[in-house]
Amino acid sequence: MTAPARDYSLTGPESQRAIERGLADADWYRSPIDPARLAELHQRSDLRTGIDVVLWLMLVVGAGSWAWVALGSWWAIPAFVVYGALYGGAADPRWHECGHGTAFRTSWLNELVYFPASFMLLREPTVWRWSHVRHHSDTIVVGRDAEIVFPRPIDVRAWTVNLFGVTSVPALVRRIVRHACDRLDADVAGYVPSELHRRVVWEARSYLVGIVGVLAACVVTAGLVPLLFVVGPTFYGAWLMAFFGTTQHAGLREDVLDHRWNTRTVYMNPVFRFLYLNMNYHIEHHMFPTVPYRNLPALHGAIRDDLPEPSPSTWAAYREIWTAARGQATEPTFELDRVVPESVSSTTRAATSVEHGGWIDVCAVADLAPGAMRSIDGSDSPIVVCRASSGEMHAVAGICTHSRRVQLVDGAIVGDELECPKHNGRFRLADGSPSRQPVTEGLATYEVQIDADRIRVRSVPNQASGSTPA
Ligand code: FES
Repeated sequence: MTAPARDYSLTGPESQRAIERGLADADWYRSPIDPARLAELHQRSDLRTGIDVVLWLMLVVGAGSWAWVALGSWWAIPAFVVYGALYGGAADPRWHECGHGTAFRTSWLNELVYFPASFMLLREPTVWRWSHVRHHSDTIVVGRDAEIVFPRPIDVRAWTVNLFGVTSVPALVRRIVRHACDRLDADVAGYVPSELHRRVVWEARSYLVGIVGVLAACVVTAGLVPLLFVVGPTFYGAWLMAFFGTTQHAGLREDVLDHRWNTRTVYMNPVFRFLYLNMNYHIEHHMFPTVPYRNLPALHGAIRDDLPEPSPSTWAAYREIWTAARGQATEPTFELDRVVPESVSSTTRAATSVEHGGWIDVCAVADLAPGAMRSIDGSDSPIVVCRASSGEMHAVAGICTHSRRVQLVDGAIVGDELECPKHNGRFRLADGSPSRQPVTEGLATYEVQIDADRIRVRSVPNQASGSTPA
């Protein structure tokens, strides 16, 4: 295996270097988009996602049934190939989308899929939820991103071996064992908040029970059939996940603050897009993680002119990755040619507000549709005025308490909650309290009045708001 050119661990010198260079938790480029169009693209549907999930589960069960009846014949080989791909490969984008909380409109439905899909992939739910938060904060920043799959130079041999999870899945199992023994890895302890460390230990223990149970079933039945159906597909079905996932960032730049340089959008056929849940629109996903998978093609259309040319096919993406692998083999700093449109400033500005007697005039009621919001200047920070899907008006502090720099007006209104545009953390609009991690601290709230069809907001926050813990 090829040795990486840099230290990709989260605990080595590159981590400190990234912080010193201003690459940690930094502001990232975001393509301009009409806020009304973005609000439309934020719409989530329990029904449509439910149909997609049920269809996937039917395929898993169908392929598993085929494999079961084909046991002992040559037909078992293609049957297990299909079953493994649907189990160990297609589970990945479902896990991912539900981890963001954007697949279903109803939060608990996302969790209902997230936890079993985590086990199918042998990913500890809390560990991976937080490593993915870090991945979105510091995408392909060396020493910070916990999910860099391709250190430079790209190791083609390691990639090939891991098509069947030969080293990657045992590494996951070893980590589960360590965590079950109450020994958290240093990087995990770094990105998972300390109050969740006990949960990590217990989740790892429950996974161990599951794995040992499958092995025990093999002993009892004196065969490997149980392993072929559970846990085993995480290995032999990993190839589909690797096939799609490789296209996301492989061969692209490190240490940049613009996803157009380090992430790849690839045009794929409808079958691939179903299996991969539209994650081929990967630049779009990273720039706007609040947009659900169903709407990524439409988002692509809305910001297309501000993106680099997408790879026209999966094959073309692999050709580009191969070029990078060959170039980096001799020179790890080798970069692909990529034309990225000039950046357009899209910084969200709070509207200049007029204050009279401690009240700020915002706009006419008719100018703020349900699901819309706008930012205004408060006495010392922006305030975001939101109209919940029910039509109720609310006003909360405009900066996310997780990073303390992200403007919430760029996020999404989901029912009566406000979702942050960076990591999908959520706040209840009624009282500013956090309702979804990674946020743990509430937002200050502001009084709202409707006066002669105008929305007015008090310029100072309500007393005692903004401190409710998750
Ligand atoms: S910045 Fe992370 S949830 Fe808002």
